[in-house]
Amino acid sequence: MGVHQPRPIGEGTLARVARILAARDIDPAAVPADVSREPNPALAAAETRIPRRYRHAVGDHPQVASWVRTVVAEAVPPSRGARRQAATGPSLLLAGTTGTGKTHQAYGAIRALTAAGIGVRWRATTEADLYAALRPRPGSDSERELMALARCPVLLLDDLGAAKSSEWTEELIYRLINKRYNDMLPTLVTTNLAIRDLRGALGDRVASRLAEMTERLVLTGADRRRAPVAA
Ligand SMILES: Nc1ncnc2c1ncn2[C@@H]1O[C@H](COP(=O)(O)OP(=O)(O)OP(=O)(O)O)[C@@H](O)[C@H]1O
Ligand SMILES: [Mg+2]
Repeated sequence: MGVHQPRPIGEGTLARVARILAARDIDPAAVPADVSREPNPALAAAETRIPRRYRHAVGDHPQVASWVRTVVAEAVPPSRGARRQAATGPSLLLAGTTGTGKTHQAYGAIRALTAAGIGVRWRATTEADLYAALRPRPGSDSERELMALARCPVLLLDDLGAAKSSEWTEELIYRLINKRYNDMLPTLVTTNLAIRDLRGALGDRVASRLAEMTERLVLTGADRRRAPVAA
């Protein structure tokens, strides 16, 4: 399989995680894919920044849990003796039609990472909010904000492909994705676009980088927001 092919999480990734964990003397069973109910100050702090609707989301999809384990396994201490911090790792592209649980799984992944005992600096934005925040205006330093998102160890870029695009937005997304691609920073991307439409909507340079850097997961099913209520 070429490096530019979409790479669903499979046996290869699971074996890689097992190898990394074994090399670090970590018992895979001790790395939570899920979040326990024990009080956890790091998780509680993260939850204050998670939108209320997703504050208790659980990233229970097996590929999401596997991604969390990989990022935890690849965490490194920034200096000798320091606590391990999320550093590099694969990215995850969550695709699917509206209401299938992409944002839920993404925040669930962030909760699981913060609950896993490693340090996690994370940021989250939708593509549309990103453009609103970066629109040049007096007194704001958009370049600095863009770099803060580009360098943040873990980024959730929600709803990619839903915002109206222009040359300016294409350049911004390219710079954001390219920086994270170059530095191999774990990025959670959600999109309503079908995988085959990514290139047309985002341009070849962004789609090519996403193809290499992300593991892909397509959520299916009905719109959970409209699910019939049981009588
Ligand atoms: N696994 C789950 N368990 C319980 N509730 C869920 C689950 N997944 C999603 N939900 C709920 O379903 C609704 C829709 O989920 P979510 O917002 O994640 O969808 P989405 O795929 O991001 O949709 P959109 O493409 O419109 O942004 C939300 O109320 C969310 O809390
Ligand atoms: Mg969403």
